[in-house]
Amino acid sequence: MAGLIPKSFIHDLLERADIVEVVDSRVPLKKAGKNHQACCPFHNEKSPSFTVSQDKQFYHCFGCGAHGNAIDFLMEFDGLQFPDAVEELAGLFGVQVPREEPENPQAAQKKQQQTQDDVAIMNQAARFYQHQLKHHASSEQVIGYLKKRGLSGETVKRFQIGYAPDDWDSLLKTFGQGAKQRQQLLELKLINRNDKGRHYDFFRDRVMFPIHDRRGRVVGFGGRIIEGDGPKYLNSPETRLFHKGSELYGYWHMQQAVRRPDQVVVVEGYMDVVALSQAGIDYAVASLGTATTTEQLQRLFRTSPRVVCCYDGDRAGRDAAWRALENALPLLKDGLDMAFLFLPEGEDPDSVVRDKGKEAFEQALTQAKPFTEYFFEHLQEGIDVSTDAGRSQLLSTAKPLIEKIASGYYQSALLEKLTRQFGFLPEQVEKSYFSRSSGNGNKYQSQEKSRLGVVERATAILIQKPSLALDYYVSSEINNLKLKDIKIFTAVYRQCSKRELNTAQVLEGWRESSRFELIKELSTRELHLEDEHFSKEFEGILLYLTDMCIEQKANSILEEINKGNASKELLEEYQSLLALKKKQQPK
Ligand code: GTP
Ligand code: MN
Repeated sequence: MAGLIPKSFIHDLLERADIVEVVDSRVPLKKAGKNHQACCPFHNEKSPSFTVSQDKQFYHCFGCGAHGNAIDFLMEFDGLQFPDAVEELAGLFGVQVPREEPENPQAAQKKQQQTQDDVAIMNQAARFYQHQLKHHASSEQVIGYLKKRGLSGETVKRFQIGYAPDDWDSLLKTFGQGAKQRQQLLELKLINRNDKGRHYDFFRDRVMFPIHDRRGRVVGFGGRIIEGDGPKYLNSPETRLFHKGSELYGYWHMQQAVRRPDQVVVVEGYMDVVALSQAGIDYAVASLGTATTTEQLQRLFRTSPRVVCCYDGDRAGRDAAWRALENALPLLKDGLDMAFLFLPEGEDPDSVVRDKGKEAFEQALTQAKPFTEYFFEHLQEGIDVSTDAGRSQLLSTAKPLIEKIASGYYQSALLEKLTRQFGFLPEQVEKSYFSRSSGNGNKYQSQEKSRLGVVERATAILIQKPSLALDYYVSSEINNLKLKDIKIFTAVYRQCSKRELNTAQVLEGWRESSRFELIKELSTRELHLEDEHFSKEFEGILLYLTDMCIEQKANSILEEINKGNASKELLEEYQSLLALKKKQQPK
């Protein structure tokens, strides 16, 4: 593991970077007044509501609410993890990202070296299988099989499809000369060991599909049987390099072809991805034999606003679809869309595209069932909605699921469907609706519509104009006020008063805090203030808070005095309180 990226480096990077340039290189911007604008890359729209502020070094979409600094933009737009986004940004200036000394540098270095070695051996294994496909004695037969399945040489090469020979030790002989190498092959599950301690190849006599991670490194394999007995597919088990729940077969290839497709299709099989790609549908991925996980779906929704799950219409396919939908609920924000396409018995995307062509498949995709429809269709299965028992069952299973959906729009659409389609009384549905907004569901959203309290407003002003902290003095006494979120305000003030920051840098300081969402929300709040009125209002709020402080303190001092505890110190304290008010003027 590489050490952490020093905070100071990120701070400096955000100072040097210009978000307008970063965004403009991916989404061309137009100047509009003080800001820059474009149609939002994170949801579909016809008129631009995506705004980039050079002052604040910050973007915000009034349509879908997407917002953040240059690092957030790269994470969202390029689908990167935080450290990779920092690398990308640093790359623009040609600077190396430093890493803090990890706690145990030797162990970290060893781990890093091991990953490098693992990746190297996996890539070599992929090349070995590719080589065997061309040069092995069975080559002709295997190539014949691939041809029969309609794959062109170009496609086979592009997906690095190979052949694992029908021997016990062809890979073992090639790469497992020493004990150390054999141990590594074993750990990467390229070979097995039997009870007697003998090693042998894991994949034998199979067509090999290398699985790439998002950076294009081979991390696992799927092997298809050509003929004979045994499981149709054999997949690499989990290893330190390969995590089925995080990888998607075909994702890297899709990214090579289109970075941000209008839609992504999730299919079941390797062959489906490969055949679709050959037919010119380069936006298909497959989850690896398991249900599509939230992590995989998150990556897909960062890549595209629409995900279509295309599965067999049989039981297994329907189960997989439902689990994908359940996993997607918390990700379904406004502007995102999910749909389901079930193919008729005996067909899969590979056969459809081969028999009927690209257009027919794409046509079918447009007919995919919206998730809002599939949702009720699935929940109704096995329930008789003409009885009270059935109806109450439907309501009680639907409610908690609807509450999980991220988008308020979809939530109300589904609730409305409950009343319209199933005849529930509005209050039966409403009740669940309101129990949601008072629960933890979408507190954030209902808060958004409310007016800001005075402390929140001061915090928002400060985040949006951090230089105010350098102009005004805020007494630490304010910290003791019994007001909601006052500690956040003073923390932001402390942060901004140390040195000059822009909004992007302020946000960065909160990324790991549980209050990051609140801080981000405040940074995008429309305060309806002209530029020159920020400081006036800030000053006003400070005076107000200081008054409160004085009052709170004075009351407690008075209480003491009333109890007969009037000391010289107390009186002095009282005096100094009054002096505080004077200090509230601009520095
Ligand atoms: P083809 O018959 O070659 O067209 O296969 P396919 O790509 O259409 O796969 P299928 O629909 O039969 O299965 C979908 C996916 O499920 C495969 O890509 C594998 O990941 C997985 N799978 C299928 N059969 C097996 C099996 O026997 N064992 C395991 N572990 N996984 C399988
Ligand atoms: Mn198939």
